[in-house]
Amino acid sequence: MESAHTLYIGLLGLGTVGRGVVRSLESNRRQIESRTGSSIKVLGALVRHVEKPRNLDTSAFTVTDDPQTILVDPRIDVVVEVMGGMEPAKSYIRQALLSRKHVVTANKELLARHGDELGELADRQGVRLLFEASVAGGIPVVRMVQQYLTANRITSIRGILNGTCNYILTKMEEDGLSFADALQNAQRLGYAEADPQSDVEGYDSSYKLAILANMAFPIKSPVSAVQRQGITRISEQDIRTAQSKGCVIRLIGEAAYDGLQVNLQVGPRLLPREDALAGVRDVFNAVTLTADVVGDLTFIGRGAGELPTASAVIEDLMEVLRTPSPYWNAPLRSFGASEANDKGVKRDPGAAYFDNMVAPAWLRS
Ligand code: NAP
Ligand code: HSE
Repeated sequence: MESAHTLYIGLLGLGTVGRGVVRSLESNRRQIESRTGSSIKVLGALVRHVEKPRNLDTSAFTVTDDPQTILVDPRIDVVVEVMGGMEPAKSYIRQALLSRKHVVTANKELLARHGDELGELADRQGVRLLFEASVAGGIPVVRMVQQYLTANRITSIRGILNGTCNYILTKMEEDGLSFADALQNAQRLGYAEADPQSDVEGYDSSYKLAILANMAFPIKSPVSAVQRQGITRISEQDIRTAQSKGCVIRLIGEAAYDGLQVNLQVGPRLLPREDALAGVRDVFNAVTLTADVVGDLTFIGRGAGELPTASAVIEDLMEVLRTPSPYWNAPLRSFGASEANDKGVKRDPGAAYFDNMVAPAWLRS
């Protein structure tokens, strides 16, 4: 079946997550096409080292070290930022939004620190800024808070938000690995940040907690408000002592809103085995949301790694396809849209486009 419409994307980054996106778009191509009537095609990927072996078929798109190849290409509808870091990622995202390209990002530090600014820019430009992959890997918790709990008042968030730390603690506990060996394995498996201090010192969990808190509660939660402690001081002896008490140690993020203020904490906690989070092992994450109407909701899934993170990125691309646009929703199989895109014509974001636009959700639904 030939798709009536193609969503063209450009990747900023072709490491663990970028590779997962390319592979999953290919492996699930028919599923995406049959669900949406559209196909998603990668046109280019930005990397630092073009010659680096990637264990990936890159023959269908351009691999470049020139960001402008992606950012000024008029055919590209969505820029997927999976390179990480603050700069140049922030400048590239700004340029993409200013060019009226939708942006999908997995960059939690950037969002926790500058999400307001980037979200407001996206709103002004009438495009989407989507970030499901930035929190808890494959668990669709961002969309859950933004779209499915909007009539509820969320009062607390508690969870395991870092796959690397959970993997390290589990391996120390179950396999007797040293901290250093377990961290090395997590890096090899693609779970850890480029600078793993971000994981093990609790910064990464703090960014994710701040993103969730800013969506869930009516008061702004800067990252600096998180009381943070990592797992670097947890010794093998601490793990054994916990076990002897029938407990496990987990790095827990907790945010609570009492109607006046928000309290945010990240730190190692001793959990009795009966605690729902004690059974969350390996690279898995878990998030429990407490809300006034629904009560407790707990989500568990893989929190890091190539495919779970790619799943979140691709679901954001599907969300872009659901964004009202005369080019792909009205009607779904419009011939004109794909013809315009195939010819590389920059679409004219005319009045009808914005009239139909659903307001993008940044910190609200
Ligand atoms: P990664 O494996 O280190 O890949 C980063 C990619 O970006 C590489 O292809 C690198 O190029 C490219 N890159 C980095 N800086 C660049 C620059 N200045 N100019 C051009 N290209 C640049 O990282 P990752 O694990 O995929 O993570 C990417 C992002 O996703 C980060 O924000 C991370 O926090 C987030 N994330 C990761 C996971 C995970 O499980 N890994 C999960 C959720 C979110 P080269 O290949 O040439 O070096
Ligand atoms: N380094 C992060 C983690 C990647 O281990 O959870 C997913 O955000």
